[in-house]
Amino acid sequence: MSGTTTHQRLEPGEPSPNVAAAATAPADSFWAVARSELEGLPGGGLNIACEAVDRHVQAGRGATVALRWRGKNGERRDFSYADLAGLSNRFANMLRRLGVGKGDRVCTLAGRIPELYIAALGTLKAGAVFCPLFSAFGPEPVRVRLSKSRARVLVTTALLYQRKVQAQRNDLPDLAQVLLADGGGAEPGVHSFQALLDAESDQFTIPFTAPEDWALLHFTSGTTGTPKGAIHVHEAIVAHRFTGRRVFELQPGDIYWCTADPGWVTGVSYGIIAPLACGATLVVDEADFDARRWYAILEQERVNVWYTAPTAIRMLMRVGAEAAQGCDLSALRFAASVGEPLNPAGVLWGQEALGRPFHDTWWQTETGAILIANRLGQELRPGSMGRPLPGITAAIVRRRPDGGVDLLDAGEEGELAVRIGWPSLFRGYLDDAERYRACFADGWYLSGDLATRDAEGYYWFLGRNDDVIKSAGHLIGPFEVESALLQHPAVAEAGMIGKPDAFAGHIIKVFVALKPGYVASAALHKELLGFARTRLGPAVAPRELEFMADLPKTRSGKILRRLLRDRELGLPLGDLSVLDADATPTG
Ligand code: WT7
Repeated sequence: MSGTTTHQRLEPGEPSPNVAAAATAPADSFWAVARSELEGLPGGGLNIACEAVDRHVQAGRGATVALRWRGKNGERRDFSYADLAGLSNRFANMLRRLGVGKGDRVCTLAGRIPELYIAALGTLKAGAVFCPLFSAFGPEPVRVRLSKSRARVLVTTALLYQRKVQAQRNDLPDLAQVLLADGGGAEPGVHSFQALLDAESDQFTIPFTAPEDWALLHFTSGTTGTPKGAIHVHEAIVAHRFTGRRVFELQPGDIYWCTADPGWVTGVSYGIIAPLACGATLVVDEADFDARRWYAILEQERVNVWYTAPTAIRMLMRVGAEAAQGCDLSALRFAASVGEPLNPAGVLWGQEALGRPFHDTWWQTETGAILIANRLGQELRPGSMGRPLPGITAAIVRRRPDGGVDLLDAGEEGELAVRIGWPSLFRGYLDDAERYRACFADGWYLSGDLATRDAEGYYWFLGRNDDVIKSAGHLIGPFEVESALLQHPAVAEAGMIGKPDAFAGHIIKVFVALKPGYVASAALHKELLGFARTRLGPAVAPRELEFMADLPKTRSGKILRRLLRDRELGLPLGDLSVLDADATPTG
C-alpha cells in the first residue's frame, strides 16, 4: 500500500502522511533526551510493555508491587512487577499460539479486573494493538467498535459477552477468539482466559517492535460519522513516562491511583502505562464511585498521587468535606484532574478536604498524553488548565478559509492548537485519512477546543467548537446516539444535545420528530428512552427526550443541534439565516 495522501486505509507500521514530520523530530530535540531515558529494545526498537514492566524486573525491582487490585467485594490482590511480567508473558505466548501478532487488534470489554491489565500488557509485548472498550457500552457501540477495529481477540466476562456480543457474533467475522475472565464456554472460539494462560510459559522475549509500530487504538467521537479509532504507536511511551515524571513527579515505589476506567484513554495512558513506566505501584479499584470507599482507599493505601475527574470531584463535594475528616491523608502529595472544566471552587475544595488543591491538566484521546498542566512548583491558577509542558508549543489560533491558521494574541479567544512533534500524537484515525488530515494545518494539530491564553501563558478552557459532549467525563458524539434512535420505526429525525447537569457536567438530551402516523405520547416517550438505553448502554443513553414536530435544519438538511441547545438553555438564538424556512422555530 502506498504512503500517498490518497489512500483511505492505513496499515499498521505504515507512516501516515501528515505526521511524517511529527515522527521525525530532530535527533537533538527535547524529546530525544526524554527518549534516551528509556530502555529500548535491541536494534533501536521500543515497546511500551518493556518500559512499563520488564525493565523494572531487569533493574532488580521485580518484587515491588506493580498493581494493587481492590475488588468490589473487599478482596485485595497484589501483583508484583515480576508477577505482571510473567502473566503478560503468558498472554503474549497465548496470542502467538493463536496466530495473533503484529498489528492485530486485541480488544477488552471488562470492568477494572486484573485480566484487563494482563491482556493490555501482553498484547503490547506480542506487538499486537490493544483496544479497550468501555464496559458500560451497550451492544450497539460494542459491535461498531469491534467491527471497525477488526478485532481478532476479545477479552471479556461471561456476562458481558452474553449481553453485548454473543448475538452479534455473525456480524463480526474477524473475531476468532473470545477469552472469558471468569471461565470458559461450551461454544467454539470461547475460552477460559485462565485455562489458556495456565498452559503457557511465563517466559517470553519481546519481538522487535519499531517506535512507529501501532500499539494502542482508542475510539473517540466527532460531530459526524461513526466513532474514530485514534492510532497510537510505541513511541508514545516517551510522553507517557515523561509526563508521569514531570506532572506527577512519580518515582519508583510511589503509590498512585487513577480513578479513570481503562475503557477510555485516561485509564490506559495514566491508569496503566505512565505510572508503571515510572515504577510506581498502581492502585486499581474495581468498584464504582463511593465517597467513603474512596477516602478509605486514599488513607489505607497511603496514596501519594491521585488522578481523578471533575465529575467525581463534584460528587465528593456534594457529600461534603466532613466525610474526609478523620482520614489520614498525609501521604497525598499531589492531586490532579482531567477531562472536563474544573472550576476554581473544585480546585480549592481539594485543599480544604484533602489538604491538596486539585491541579487541572489538559489533553485528549488524540494527544495521547498530558500537554498542558498546572504543575507542582508552579503558581496554580484555579480555573485554568495550566501551561504547556516543556517540549510542547501551544497556541490559540483561528482557521483561515484558505486552510491555514492565524496565531492569536494573549487574551483572544480561538481554537487551542499544538505544534506537531511530540511523541504521543496520534498517527491516524483507522481507515479515515480524510478526517485525520482535517486535524492539521500549517504544522499545527487543531484540538477542536476553544480557549484563551493569558499574559503568563496559562490556558483557559471555553468550550468545544463541535457538537460532542462530555457526560460524566466521557466523550459522546451525536451520530451514535441519533443513529440508535433512528432505528426505531417511529423516529423520523433525532438531534442530540448536552444539557448542563450539576454532577455529570452534561446529560444527553434528544429531540425527536416522529414519522407520519405516529403520535407523541407518554408511552412512546418511555419506549424510546428504553429502546435507546438497551442499544447504547447506560453510559451513552439519553436521559431526556422531547418530541418536536420538526427539527431545525440548515438548507442542506443538517440538524442544527446548536440551535436546539440554545433554545433548551433559553439563550438568544442568534443568526437564523442558515435555517430551512419551514423549520424555523417559533419559540
Ligand atoms: C476533551 C478530550 C481528558 C483526556 C482524556 C479524555 C475536554 C480535557 C480538559 C480540561 C476542560 C477538558 C476537552 C478535550 N477536556 N481536559 N482540563 N478542561 N476540558 O480525552 O475523551 O478525547 O476528551 O476533553 O474538550 O477536547 P477525550
